[in-house]
Amino acid sequence: MRTVEFIAKKRDGGEHTEEELRDFIGRVTDGSLPDYQISAWLMAVFLRGMTMREVRALTRAMRDSGERIDLSDMPNGPTLDKHSTGGVGDKTSLVVVPLLAAAGIPVLKMSGRGLGFSGGTIDKLEAIPGFRTALKSEEAKAQVRSIGLAILSQSSQLAPADGKLYALRDVTATVESIPLIASSIMSKKLAGGAERILLDVKVGSGSFMRELEQARALAGTLVTIGVQEGVPTQAVLTDMEEPLGWTVGNALEVEEAIRVLQSPETAEPRFLALCLGLVAHGLLVCERARDAEEAQTTAEQLLRSGVGAAKLEAMIRAQGGPKDLDAALTVLPRAPITCWIEAPEEGFITALDARAIGLLAVAMGAGRTTKEDRVDPSVGIVLHKKRGAWVRAGEPLATLHLKAESASQKEHFKALLLSAYRFGAAPPALPSSPILEVLSSS
Ligand code: URA
Repeated sequence: MRTVEFIAKKRDGGEHTEEELRDFIGRVTDGSLPDYQISAWLMAVFLRGMTMREVRALTRAMRDSGERIDLSDMPNGPTLDKHSTGGVGDKTSLVVVPLLAAAGIPVLKMSGRGLGFSGGTIDKLEAIPGFRTALKSEEAKAQVRSIGLAILSQSSQLAPADGKLYALRDVTATVESIPLIASSIMSKKLAGGAERILLDVKVGSGSFMRELEQARALAGTLVTIGVQEGVPTQAVLTDMEEPLGWTVGNALEVEEAIRVLQSPETAEPRFLALCLGLVAHGLLVCERARDAEEAQTTAEQLLRSGVGAAKLEAMIRAQGGPKDLDAALTVLPRAPITCWIEAPEEGFITALDARAIGLLAVAMGAGRTTKEDRVDPSVGIVLHKKRGAWVRAGEPLATLHLKAESASQKEHFKALLLSAYRFGAAPPALPSSPILEVLSSS
């Protein structure tokens, strides 16, 4: 089928066959299709959607666009891969993966870069000078065998079709699509050879699914693909109304994740609860705990014992970064300008719009607005006060970390940051746990 006919079929609401999708993905991968045709098709999918049969076929075609890692010979399995559907300040993988590895679960995780207003684990890790994310599959496997964990990027070897589509979706307003998100995530997870999959499906202003119903539909699609491919998969729906933790921005988030593992008492409580909850679910999915209570206790013990910090340190060293976490903290890039905003009035913080903060971080240089953009790892936002806090007028709310070129835009960025906050006389009703629902294949 000619490419124009293929695009028109989706534009007019048709259903692609597996053969058509394989042919298209083959040409996306070998570079024979121009970006404008791929982008037109992405927009057609965004507007028209896909049937479950198409999503599965697309996922398999994307998975097969490169190599598949075979982890069946990995000792101490089953191996686990964990993935988030994308959030703001979402550094959970940097805390959760080392803790799961510390529990003896082999974790080989394929991560993505920033997408739209959401950050990406690969951009965060690349903020660490020397850190290599483009591991070859044999190298990643050897690393998991020796130290228990590896986080790598999609590459020309692994799920290359996702790399191409991901970069185009990021800049063509085609991110918030269940078929495109599900195929992107699951093609990477399946190419990475995971024997168990844990998915953190975000819900709220700082995620691609703003409403619970949409997030449920995405979770259902992800879990169905896992089941159809024979991989036990669990999706956890989690709150993404305000940024996660204290920081948004690549180097700032790496620093925060290191500090959570080294000194958990400094962690932002809801972020810590989310990380521990995800570790507990990972333990359950990999049959390392008998029930939810034992899983939660084990997660807390792992955090307190400091073994998670040791695992993160080993991974940073193995992938080319500094020899220990203290050295990593000293070499993380720092922005040259800082300035803060203050509470304009007294009251409770009733909302802190995660999407507005994510978009601000992108505008400051922490994310991309064109495919060729380079992120600035040093810039970002440190939040001192979040939802539920009571503040006095004039109290510092948040600090901006800016690059020198942004000096003239300082007041504009400060105004954007302040507009993300809402104040009221009564505290907001927050969900009792950051984990809202769980959807499991078993
Ligand atoms: N993470 C991915 O890998 N892909 C998406 O589309 C969204 C989040």
